[in-house]
Amino acid sequence: MSFLSETRRRRTFAIISHPDAGKTTLTEKLLLFSGAIQIAGSVKARKASRHATSDWMEIEKQRGISVASSVMQMLYRDHVINLLDTPGHKDFSEDTYRVLTAVDSALMVIDAANGVEAQTRRLIEVCRQRDTPIITFVNKMDREVREPLDILDEVERELGMPCVPMTWPVGQGKSFRGIMNLRTQTMTVFESGSERLPHDFETIALTERDTLTKRFGADFESAMDSMELATGASPTWDREAFLAGRQTPVFFGSGVNNFGVMEVLDALVDLAPSPQSRTSTTMVNRQPVVKEIQPEDKDFAGVVFKVQANMDANHRDRIAFVRMASGKYTPGMKLKVQRTAKELRPTSVVTFMSQRREAVEEAYAGDIVGFTTHGGVQLGDTITDGASLQFTGLPFFAPELFMTVILKNPLRTKQLQQGLAQLGEEGAIQVFRPEIGGPMLLGAVGQLQFEVVQHRLKAEYDADVRLEGCQYTGARWITADSPAELREFVNAYPQRMAKDAADTLAFLCTSPYDVRLAQERFPKIHFHPLREHA
Ligand code: G4P
Repeated sequence: MSFLSETRRRRTFAIISHPDAGKTTLTEKLLLFSGAIQIAGSVKARKASRHATSDWMEIEKQRGISVASSVMQMLYRDHVINLLDTPGHKDFSEDTYRVLTAVDSALMVIDAANGVEAQTRRLIEVCRQRDTPIITFVNKMDREVREPLDILDEVERELGMPCVPMTWPVGQGKSFRGIMNLRTQTMTVFESGSERLPHDFETIALTERDTLTKRFGADFESAMDSMELATGASPTWDREAFLAGRQTPVFFGSGVNNFGVMEVLDALVDLAPSPQSRTSTTMVNRQPVVKEIQPEDKDFAGVVFKVQANMDANHRDRIAFVRMASGKYTPGMKLKVQRTAKELRPTSVVTFMSQRREAVEEAYAGDIVGFTTHGGVQLGDTITDGASLQFTGLPFFAPELFMTVILKNPLRTKQLQQGLAQLGEEGAIQVFRPEIGGPMLLGAVGQLQFEVVQHRLKAEYDADVRLEGCQYTGARWITADSPAELREFVNAYPQRMAKDAADTLAFLCTSPYDVRLAQERFPKIHFHPLREHA
């Protein structure tokens, strides 16, 4: 297969959802129907073992598993589909957000009874900032749920873009009859149970109206009415608009019953984009110049979007997950970390190709390569096979949870500082130094990040710490057009100012109103909810 076809046949996406909406179930079905796994239950079992315990040591043991499942690859209709896991539930962390910077599209799964829930909303925000195309799957239609028109209305409001229904449900809950496929103009008849493969369901052409009315009666008629209302109110399907993050195709189904899932898998091939270009900067005559890296460029280039500490604390191994932006990876190739200009010397490399029939050891744009190293690689690092460039845009998100770090034995201050610096580099946590002095603050978006950091500080740096709650609930990085304006602001809120690991000034808030009030008082100050990796 040509180099160009290899990049064009790739799809890299992540699922965004709220806990319990059905992400694990859907992941499993997608893997099953593409032939990537043979037995249902394996993804589910992993989830159960990960969450059955609240003991961090146990979670750490599971890390080997979570590395393997961070990227799941499927081969479907001659396309290579990379599904990146977005840790949820208790694992929710900055990694969850950052994974979204490594994908070209997102699949939003919502529970049809609950609509768009809190965690999904946070993830949507990240997608919207990057105009990531979003495919919507409305799950659990076999339950008593909300009216489809009502759900579409909510999705439109939450996403801030129109919905284009691709399938439409006939009935719901006990009277769930099936879904109409608006493209093929057919109705697939619902049957519950998880033994059936997608092609085993009966399909009837919508032109056979009499048959459908006779069999499904009022459910069918009212589905036709609501479908006509929905399609009349929504714009026509426009792939360009979808790719630009301006409309979302919507599918209905029931993951647990294998129903409506194949349509989503097909949408990933037919609608979702192949790897997109990525913005980088390169130095020309000592001036930074913006350069778009195209997936079909021959040189290897990729960015580290996730760093995961390995299991063996004594070795401090780390796995750097690199999203390839261009070129071809082959084992043994010489790669360089641009920040340090040093060669990347991995002890092992994972390419997530294991499900493929023949062991093809190569990767292309859109693929993820995991390099295990003894260090020397940081979050946001650009890796190339020679070209001198730096990808931009790996974001740090403003933490929503804060804790004060109290060192139990003050003689271990140096170890604590070293540990926090390294864990900060890995992106495990964000560290803030208050400008007026006092204990350091840790910032996170998920509670588990604190537990992990506390445990790792002790295990890997012999720094025993106590974490105490504090009044902060948010932070904004601040900039101003002139140093004088910035100084005036800092002087007005000295006790609220802190510097992060990159020495960037942040304003700490105790409520959402803080930012609004500060903004009203100082209209010329810019408050940023995310900071890009320098
Ligand atoms: P998550 O990863 O988003 O957290 O969700 P997960 O797939 O684990 O699904 C959460 C619960 O919803 C599970 O039930 C799952 O079986 C159920 N579920 C998923 N899809 C559907 C669907 O289409 N219809 C119905 N009725 N239920 C669905 P559970 O009781 O928590 O677990 P389990 O004992 O069934 O495994």
